[in-house]
Amino acid sequence: MSKISSIQTVSDTHELEFKPSGSKNRAYSLFGSSLFDSIEVGTAKGLRQIHAYLFGGLYDFAGQIRTKTISKGGFKFCVAEYLESALKKIEQMPENTFDEIVDKYVEMNVAHPFMEGNGRSTRIWLDMIFKKRLSKCVDWSMIGKKDYLDAMRESHYDPTKIKELLRNALTDKIDDREMFMKGIDYSYYYEEAE
Ligand SMILES: Nc1ncnc2c1ncn2[C@@H]1O[C@H](COP(=O)(O)OP(=O)(O)O)[C@@H](O)[C@H]1O
Ligand SMILES: [Mg+2]
Repeated sequence: MSKISSIQTVSDTHELEFKPSGSKNRAYSLFGSSLFDSIEVGTAKGLRQIHAYLFGGLYDFAGQIRTKTISKGGFKFCVAEYLESALKKIEQMPENTFDEIVDKYVEMNVAHPFMEGNGRSTRIWLDMIFKKRLSKCVDWSMIGKKDYLDAMRESHYDPTKIKELLRNALTDKIDDREMFMKGIDYSYYYEEAE
């Protein structure tokens, strides 16, 4: 293999693992857009719409529910065969209180419906629920990367930490452009390899 083609291969692999630039710009452009208003809040369809928008043309599975079972750090996410029925149950979960909303978010993380891009799309999905139901959103800059990831790792058996982190980071600044942009920056930063 020539030097150039081997470099190409490496960069292709990296691109598949993480798509920051194109996808991040799309995430930025959601703010104040009519498309944003057309996304369903709190449903699996809404999450697929967000995922399709962030990763369309970048991942061939953008907006598509995975058909393979995947795991992360030794934790197995929802078995692919049960995903459709799990999503139906999750979208029916109530979202009237802070606790109900975070419980729903935790379950959606356990479902992990996409091959990649679950974290970035589901955090936007969560913020849309907070905004609609509580007129709040998360100031993600108040949540450190390690704290966030540790809390999510244990969230499926103990959501105490993720609830504490999110509760302390809630803000009324739901229509603040800078808050939204900063949130996207943090959300994408959580997913960057160390
Ligand atoms: N061990 C784990 N157990 C449960 N959830 C996890 C674990 N590790 C990471 N997560 C969650 O999965 C998300 C990453 O999922 P992923 O599909 O890779 O999304 P993205 O591509 O946006 O990073 C993290 O943001 C976190 O919420
Ligand atoms: Mg990832």
